[in-house]
Amino acid sequence: MAKKKYNLNNLVSFKVNNLKGSIVASPDKSISHRSLLFASLSIGLSRISNLLEADDILRMIEALKNLGVKIRRNNKKEWLINGVGLVGFDTPSKEIDCGNSGTLARILIGALANNKISVTLIGDKSLNNRPMDRVMLPLKKMGVEFITLNNKLPITINGKNNLIPIKYNTPVSSAQIKTSILLASLNIRGVTEVIEPYTSRNHSENLLKYFGADIKFDSANKGKNKVLVQGGNFLKCRDVKVPGDISSAAFSIVAACIVSKSLVKIMNVGVNIFRIGIIDALKLMGANIVLDNYRINEYDEPVSDIIVSYARLKPIKLKSKFSSKMIDEYPILAMAAAATNGKSIFCGLSELKYKESDRFKAIMDGLNKCGIMTVSKGNDLIIYGNKNKIEGGVSIDCQYDHRIAMSFLILGTISKKPIEVIGCKSILTSYPNFYEQMNAIGLDIRVKK
Ligand code: S3P
Repeated sequence: MAKKKYNLNNLVSFKVNNLKGSIVASPDKSISHRSLLFASLSIGLSRISNLLEADDILRMIEALKNLGVKIRRNNKKEWLINGVGLVGFDTPSKEIDCGNSGTLARILIGALANNKISVTLIGDKSLNNRPMDRVMLPLKKMGVEFITLNNKLPITINGKNNLIPIKYNTPVSSAQIKTSILLASLNIRGVTEVIEPYTSRNHSENLLKYFGADIKFDSANKGKNKVLVQGGNFLKCRDVKVPGDISSAAFSIVAACIVSKSLVKIMNVGVNIFRIGIIDALKLMGANIVLDNYRINEYDEPVSDIIVSYARLKPIKLKSKFSSKMIDEYPILAMAAAATNGKSIFCGLSELKYKESDRFKAIMDGLNKCGIMTVSKGNDLIIYGNKNKIEGGVSIDCQYDHRIAMSFLILGTISKKPIEVIGCKSILTSYPNFYEQMNAIGLDIRVKK
C-alpha cells in the first residue's frame, strides 16, 4: 500500500489546524542494521523482533545472505539469523549492493576486514559520492587492503586473518567509523582503542557487550569518548528487540511543536542520551515535550513514550558539540527554527555536507525557496525564522534524500500554500509508513496526481 503511494514519488503537504493522536514509533534503523550484522557474526541462532523493514535494512539482509548467512522471517514477523562467527562469511557470487545506505557500507567493511575473502561493495548514485576513506584509513592501519579508484564506492575489500590492533583518534565523531573499527578488532588478539572527540551514538558498544564482546566504554561520557576492545572472543547469539527510532519520531515531534493546538504521543521511542539532541534542542526552544514510561531495555538502551504539545518556539543558538547527538535531525530542526520569530544559529555542521545529499545546501535552498532567509558562515547555518512568512507554494526536489523530503513535508503543515516534494520514494529507505502515520495524526499529505 505505502509502496504504491511512494512509487508515485511526488507528495504534497497542505496546511492543517491541529494534530492529535498516538502512534508507535517506526523501528530504529541504526539498531536494526547492527542487530542483523552482529547476529550474523555470532555463533548460534539469534532472533530479532520489531526489525525495521525499510530499503536500507532489506539491503543489509540481502548483503548478509550473499555472504552465506541464513536469514528468515517467521510468521510472528521475527527475523531469525544463523550466525556464522567472526570469520565465517563466504565469498559472495556477486557484488554487494549497499543501495543508499552509508551505514551498511561502512559497518560491513569493518565486519569483512577479518574474513579472508575478496568482496566488492557498490552503491547508488548518492552513496557512490560519499567518502569512504574515513573507514578505509584506520582499517588500512590494521592491515586491510582496499582497491578503489577515488576512495569512494565501488570498493573491493581484501580481508586478512593477521590484522593488528590500533589506537585510533577519529577526526570526527562518527558512529559508523567507530563501529567499523570495533568490528574489525573483534578477532584481533590485543586491545584496540577508538577515541572520538564527542561520543557518537553508542548502540554498537551496548549491543556488542550484550553479544558477549570484551568491550569497555563509559556510557555517561559527555566529552571525549574512549572505547576499548580486547579481541579474540566469540560473539554469542542473542534475542534483540529493536526500539523505535528517535530520528523518525523527530518528524511527528516537530510537527506537534509547530502546528497550533496539537497533542501527539509517540510510543516506544529509543532515547539513548547520544541521540536525543533534538529533544534537548527543542526544549531549549520552549517546546512542551514529556518523556513518559521511561525504561531501560535488556541491552542498556533507554526507551520511552514521548508526549508533545504545541508551544510557541523561540530561536536557538546551538554549539557544534551538539552535532554528534543529533546529526540526522538538523533538517527537521531547521523547519522548527523557520517556525520561530528570530535568528537561529546551528554551528559546526560540516558533516551535514556528506550525508545522503549535501543537507547543508538542501536546507538552505529549500527554506529560501519557501520564503525563509538563510545564510551560511563557514560551517555555521543561520536561519531567520518568521512563521508568518513561510509562503510555500513551491516544489522541492529532495535529491533522493529521505530526511530532506520528510522535513519539507512537515514544513508544509504550516506554510501558507502547500509544499510539493519530488523524490519521496527515498522515504522508503528509513520510514516506510511515514505517509500513513503522519496522516493518522492529522497531517494532510497527498499523492500528487
Ligand atoms: C549512523 C551514524 C550517523 C548517522 C547515520 C546512521 C549509524 O552517521 O548520520 O544516519 O547508524 O551509525 P555518521 O557515523 O557518519 O555520523
